[in-house]
Amino acid sequence: MNNQWWRQAVIYQVYPKSFQDTNGDGIGDLQGIIEHLPYIKRLGADAVWLSPVYCSPQVDNGYDIADYRHVDPMFGSDADMDELIKQAHHLGLKIIMDLVANHTSDQHAWFKQSRQSKDNPYSDYYIWRDPAPDGGVPNNWGSSFGGSAWTFDDTRGQYYLHYYSPQQPDLNWENPKVRQAVYDIMRYWVVKGVDGWRLDVITSISKDQQFCDRPNPKHLPYVSSGQNNGPRMHEFIAEMNREVFTPLNQLSIGEAPDSSSENVLALVAPDQHELNMVIPFEHMKSDVVPGGNGHFDLQPLDVVYLKGVLSRWQETLASVNAGSALYFENHDRARIPSRWGDDGKYRYQSATAFATALHGLRGTPFVYQGEEIGLTNTKLKLEDYEDVETKGAYHKLVEEQKVMTKSQFVEAANKVSRDHARMPIPWNGGEQGGFTTGKPWFALNPSFPQINVRNDLESKQSVFEYYQRLIKLRHELGVLTDGAYELIAPEDPHVFGYWRIDTNQRLLVIANLSAHEQSITPYSQAAEETCKIIITNYADRRSLKEPLRPYEAMIVGVANRSSSRNS
Ligand code: NOJ
Repeated sequence: MNNQWWRQAVIYQVYPKSFQDTNGDGIGDLQGIIEHLPYIKRLGADAVWLSPVYCSPQVDNGYDIADYRHVDPMFGSDADMDELIKQAHHLGLKIIMDLVANHTSDQHAWFKQSRQSKDNPYSDYYIWRDPAPDGGVPNNWGSSFGGSAWTFDDTRGQYYLHYYSPQQPDLNWENPKVRQAVYDIMRYWVVKGVDGWRLDVITSISKDQQFCDRPNPKHLPYVSSGQNNGPRMHEFIAEMNREVFTPLNQLSIGEAPDSSSENVLALVAPDQHELNMVIPFEHMKSDVVPGGNGHFDLQPLDVVYLKGVLSRWQETLASVNAGSALYFENHDRARIPSRWGDDGKYRYQSATAFATALHGLRGTPFVYQGEEIGLTNTKLKLEDYEDVETKGAYHKLVEEQKVMTKSQFVEAANKVSRDHARMPIPWNGGEQGGFTTGKPWFALNPSFPQINVRNDLESKQSVFEYYQRLIKLRHELGVLTDGAYELIAPEDPHVFGYWRIDTNQRLLVIANLSAHEQSITPYSQAAEETCKIIITNYADRRSLKEPLRPYEAMIVGVANRSSSRNS
């Protein structure tokens, strides 16, 4: 078996709660995913990453797991999961599960037991600390969802650590029994046929055992930075690799919030034997105010920054032939046409321009459900938001720290809140967009009568069809997988243009990431006459002579020449 299948693959992410409901309870389910596997196959994807489907009280939409070995009844049965894996494999699709092992739900049997006393078999499964001398929290560590990362438990008389909500206590990875229990869970699913793992905040699993206060230059009540890359992180991940990934031939994709192009190699360089790839965050900060108040503190997209970060990652990873996930959207990110592009007049063009810029890169492209039809955000009111992170950020930034007004926050949330990507998929323009026959758990985007899967598939300008072509190219052109990368015009504030080069072929990837016409000259002068437009989102583009129109994008094949390849 080719155990590097992911190098040429495209991974489609399903957020089960919002994909397709088949039993009318308003919540997406496994049968709904099974129903649409042929759709995912038709897109051309090679694998499906399922956000968590395990038993969960859903405080964080399944990223709070109460039982890792069973499917939550709201999604279906364990037998449905077996069928899903079987049907996916039948279609040649691999299944990647989401392993949330930095924390569990507070409803997990381990935690229920752990909180009972200081000396039960599970007392060391979580991170417990005595109160500070004044009875307060043990240190200034903050939760990513706002407030302290410590919650006091009356029965045990101690605080427990939670990097996310109080209902998501962090596991104690220092305890070898915890680690073995996690590996056992993975083996359980591997026996069922799972092909790989997306590892939720895997870079947070090791905590500095000194538990000292973290640097606090802004004098905030609690500090939520510094949660990643702890002292034993590499040791733990390498152990997971030895125990699970390598012997069981599992793909490993680690979510890595604080990884940079400099430190990522320690995780993904093949000789490290840790992860196959990480999900980076650095490029998603391209519209976040540097040194500001976190990811709701926004500025316009900085294309030069975006190109710079992506280019650094391209070069660093290529130096050791390592991989990276390529993405702009997922269940934690808003819709790109609304966030960085244009969700009105140029929705098709901007969705496909960002897709071109991304899918031309070296790495493994990820497509998040609905991205392939160019779904957009909508305008939500504060009370419409469901997401624990968005609510926590409002409390922190508007009510506690008072660094934003309510209307500034709502404006930002309408750009970046995770809820926009979590709205149910509109399959057609009918009742509830064909998502459910009941009342959807979360309202559909009001645009669904116009923007839905059926309309997109029937449209002359189908985003789906463009993605199909991009994915086909990834499968056909080896240069996209292995070719060298070379950025053109790094300082151009609007256009992302780069080369992909191997001994057989040169590809020129150009994407105008603005709503205005831009010069093509910095890019066209690098190409010779003998070029062929392989894909473009403006059907009438024939040559590299005319300026780039709003969000115009293309990939151009250029005949190889022996001399210097750039202008
Ligand atoms: C990252 C997940 O992608 C996100 O949805 C979740 O809230 C946190 N980790 C906590 O599990």
